[in-house]
Amino acid sequence: MIGKLFGRRSKTPTDLTLLPRVVHFDYLKSMRANRYWHDDNPVSTHLFNALQALFPEGERFFMDSARDVRDQMDKDKLSAELEEQIRLFIRQEAMHGREHDAWTEALIALGYVGMRGFDEKLKRDNRWSRKKLSPLVRLSMTAASEHFTASLAHLFVYKRPDLVDNAASPFRELLVYHAMEELEHKAVCFDLYQAAGGGYALRSAAMAFVTVDLLVRMHNRQKYLLEQDGLWDEDARREARALLWGKNGIMRVLMPYLLRYFRPGFHPWETDERRDLRSRYGREMSVVDRQQLKAA
Ligand SMILES: [Fe+2]
Ligand SMILES: [Fe+2]
Repeated sequence: MIGKLFGRRSKTPTDLTLLPRVVHFDYLKSMRANRYWHDDNPVSTHLFNALQALFPEGERFFMDSARDVRDQMDKDKLSAELEEQIRLFIRQEAMHGREHDAWTEALIALGYVGMRGFDEKLKRDNRWSRKKLSPLVRLSMTAASEHFTASLAHLFVYKRPDLVDNAASPFRELLVYHAMEELEHKAVCFDLYQAAGGGYALRSAAMAFVTVDLLVRMHNRQKYLLEQDGLWDEDARREARALLWGKNGIMRVLMPYLLRYFRPGFHPWETDERRDLRSRYGREMSVVDRQQLKAA
């Protein structure tokens, strides 16, 4: 078992399946019907547009770091189960990247052409880090980012389901589909990082770094999108801040779960949100399941 490496018992649920689902949604059609598809609200819509635009390149970074560590590490420290999970993790992330690319392309088709420049900058940064940072350092950032995405899924299930409920289709289905797969593979890079000998100090530093990095990049994109609409005024700035940091703000509510990562004994499977996600978002998951069946 994965967790028997280094004498730990596996915390992986026995019923865990990583299913790389095949989905395909038409984002442009929905954006054309309502540019502010999240609650008719430009600030929250562009927060989601900004966050999601980080995913394609981010996910390629995640896949590369996992592959690089896997290929370079001592093979007897890598169990067959973990190797198989890495393979499925890469397939899931590849599909997420494809769908989020399509979402970004829809934004560009709507006239937000600057999103291309943001993407190119992210690509350059990723090339730089692949050259300059060791695979284990990059994997520490990936494991931390995976905790961030799993925290978002946790938020959607238990704390702010309104964030999904207020999204128009197919964005709500995409959010739920992505959240489910982020939950399924939330421990893969963490387990790989530990199996490869990664320690506490680096993973904690990585968590602090990726959180700040994500917030800055997301803010820059959200600001750009709102500026393009001529809406980046004092009210929008205040609303954007409140959406993240105000009472019941996303970051404020996310923080306790996010901070679990800094506990020395933390493991992603100390909570399992999959069943509650499926029951909270049964309608969205059945759309995803139907698409998957059609593709199979
Ligand atoms: Fe993903
Ligand atoms: Fe992920």
